[in-house]
Amino acid sequence: MPTDDSDERETFTSPACSMHEFERDPVPRSAARRSDRRRFLRMSLTGLGAIGTFFGSIPFVRSFLPSARARALGNPVAIDVSDLEPGAVKPCLYRGETMLVLRRTKEMLATLAATDELQLDTTPDPDYSDPSYVNRVNRAIDPEFLVVRGVCTHLGCVPQLKGEEGKQILGEWWPGGFICPCHQSGYDYAGRVIRGPAPRNLPVPPHRFASPTRIVIGEPPAPT
Ligand code: FES
Repeated sequence: MPTDDSDERETFTSPACSMHEFERDPVPRSAARRSDRRRFLRMSLTGLGAIGTFFGSIPFVRSFLPSARARALGNPVAIDVSDLEPGAVKPCLYRGETMLVLRRTKEMLATLAATDELQLDTTPDPDYSDPSYVNRVNRAIDPEFLVVRGVCTHLGCVPQLKGEEGKQILGEWWPGGFICPCHQSGYDYAGRVIRGPAPRNLPVPPHRFASPTRIVIGEPPAPT
């Protein structure tokens, strides 16, 4: 049986439980170091994962951006009509679609008074309405040059310019204009539908004259 305090103190401050010894014990320190290392590894892996996700997503994000070709397709196109003979048509591409520029003769323009009565497209439609800067009948800025989208409003064929020879296809009544090779829809020299099944006129795209012989399709004239 212990007889003095020293025995009890010795028991209480045994080497295994001494605070002094505890502070010098290497085991808790290495545990802390391991914990630090784990945290460091976790943060490093998280950072690497974020970097990998960022670089990995670049092709995906790029796929949503318009390509140079797509951007170019949306640009206005300029067409030189100095070499276009009276009575001839010149096609060009705008936004992947065929545009037709017809240099009309006086005789072609004279037919429009009669074909005005034959128009089939009389229902207002904002998608097919003419720009405000073109004439209501001849549908042009300069009557000599008609600019229309050359895509039949029936099923999308490119209508062909047909003068007198069109009578052999549609009969003697044909006044001249564009005939669609698909189902023989007819459009007059202003691109107005005068024979179905096409339901709408050939639309007039936005366009302007950069000079008397250079037409820019895709841009309206500057406001005056
Ligand atoms: Fe023009 Fe059918 S596509 S008439």
